[in-house]
Amino acid sequence: MTHIPVLLEASLEYLALERFDAAPGVVVDATFGGGGHAVAMLERGGGGLRVVAIDRDPEAVGRAAALQQRFGDRFALLGGNFAELGGLLDAQGIGRIDGLLFDLGFSSFQIDTAGRGFSFQHDGPLDMRMDPGHGRSATDILAGAEVGELEEIFRRYGEEPRARAVARAVVRARAERPLTRTVELANLVAALVPVRERLRQRLHPATRIFQALRIAVNDELTALADGLEAGIGRLRPGGRVVVIAYHSLEDRLVKQFFRRRARTCTCPPGLPVCHCGTRPDLEILTSRPVMPTPAETAANPRSRSARLRAGVRR
Ligand SMILES: C[S@@+](CC[C@H](N)C(=O)[O-])C[C@H]1O[C@@H](n2cnc3c(N)ncnc32)[C@H](O)[C@@H]1O
Repeated sequence: MTHIPVLLEASLEYLALERFDAAPGVVVDATFGGGGHAVAMLERGGGGLRVVAIDRDPEAVGRAAALQQRFGDRFALLGGNFAELGGLLDAQGIGRIDGLLFDLGFSSFQIDTAGRGFSFQHDGPLDMRMDPGHGRSATDILAGAEVGELEEIFRRYGEEPRARAVARAVVRARAERPLTRTVELANLVAALVPVRERLRQRLHPATRIFQALRIAVNDELTALADGLEAGIGRLRPGGRVVVIAYHSLEDRLVKQFFRRRARTCTCPPGLPVCHCGTRPDLEILTSRPVMPTPAETAANPRSRSARLRAGVRR
């Protein structure tokens, strides 16, 4: 099993690693995963570069030992949630940083391991926690949430048009016995979709429901907003941020966050002088998101939905 890093060349280019040929600097890889981006940065980033990586998944942390041996002091891995990036860096005595990468979502290691419960391609326990030591699993949510909360999760995080019907079906099914397996949930959702419609659709009918549950279980959008806030706050002027998102909810959040930080005056139009005092602290480097080429999606279909946005701290 392996994880192919997505939009690797664009990520490295926007992080402007050539800066570290002459001067030392720290780049935070907030989503270590299989270390694909981190290794490429260390190999191609000049001797002054130190990569501090973060991952909330203890299995990802376990994979970092080989890199520590190979790169010594130039590499460190911190276990934890990037929402708490400030505290994680403080604990290492790291103040300002020079670069920041978020390659969001899940790794191939997570989705391809049936026991983690991220995918209905393999039958497994409905867990979906990136850090299995913390929080409610998907089974817990499906067993305990009221029908209205389930509908809200499916609608908001999955943009699922059948949110209400799926929520009701879950409540009906759990009255008989708890929903604990990925394939069980996928079949329950598929059964709500007429066969003709199922044949027309490119995606399995449970895709959006699985996305919604994963986002809810890991509180992904709150973590992303907190991580961006904390991480961009730590960037030195001239420091770079690169974010790779894999679905429209994430990408919209990143786009709006970047726009807010890049905004100049927010006074109503027509005022002769500015009263709001808003000072932009980010310059957006990607007027449109960078997307994978057809060659990349052919070689790595999981890159299909990736959208990269980058900025530089003012
Ligand atoms: C797409 S993978 C990263 C892959 C990596 N760039 C590579 O090339 O191997 C995303 C990783 O981010 C981690 N992750 C997601 N949300 C996180 C969060 N809030 N805090 C820390 N790690 C997170 C996941 O556990 C997963 O390992």
